[in-house]
Amino acid sequence: MLLNQIFVMLNIKLEKKVKKSFKFMKILILCIHLIYVLLNQIKLNLIKMKKLITSSIIGILGLLIVSCGGDKSTEQTAAAPAASNETAAPAADNGNPSYDPERGEGKFKDVEVGATLDVAMADAGTKVYDVKCSSCHKLTDEKLVGPGWAGVSKRRTPTWLMNFITNTNDMIDKDPELQAQLELCLVRMPNQSLSDDEARQLLEFMRKNDGVK
Ligand code: HEC
Repeated sequence: MLLNQIFVMLNIKLEKKVKKSFKFMKILILCIHLIYVLLNQIKLNLIKMKKLITSSIIGILGLLIVSCGGDKSTEQTAAAPAASNETAAPAADNGNPSYDPERGEGKFKDVEVGATLDVAMADAGTKVYDVKCSSCHKLTDEKLVGPGWAGVSKRRTPTWLMNFITNTNDMIDKDPELQAQLELCLVRMPNQSLSDDEARQLLEFMRKNDGVK
């Protein structure tokens, strides 16, 4: 009997100890959980703050644009000019809003070509090509140093070609397609200092190469 009682007492003591350690564990887990939740909250708050700041900046910008436009009607109509302003901005960022990719840039405004080939002019152009251009341009569509000339008189307008041949440097600076070609060719076409007549002869030669008769 006595032994039994001692056993029961011991049991109770043990239980208490276990219970205590359980309590401790619970508190520990709670603490960790709390810290975790707190950290998450801080993270969320940061994201929210970022959103708040950006949206308020956008809002202020929008207001500025609207007030500059002098349009103070509803918010919906305000959104439209803001959007069009955004699309207009990158074009101006290009640095060459006045550049006309059809005409190029240079002294030629509107070069006219005949419906048929001027054979004499084309023959003169062949000679200029042999001396000054053939080292870099093939007459096929194959690249040498520069792009092949097959189809070039159709890809480009006569005015563009005349301006490019006589004003090479400026045009490479401004024409987006030439800049793309430059990246492919890795060589910048040097200005060949041609006379207007030679340029015109070359144009006729390119037309001949593209099958104009
Ligand atoms: C040193 C090499 C070199 C010489 C010489 C040269 N070019 Fe070029 N040419 C190029 C390169 C490279 C390009 C590609 C654009 C760029 O990066 O400058 C090009 C581009 C062109 C283009 C545009 C082609 C296209 O597909 O749009 C024409 C037209 C042209 N050249 C005409 C001429 C004429 C005409 C001559 C001779 C008077 C000439 N080139 C001499 C290297 C040359």
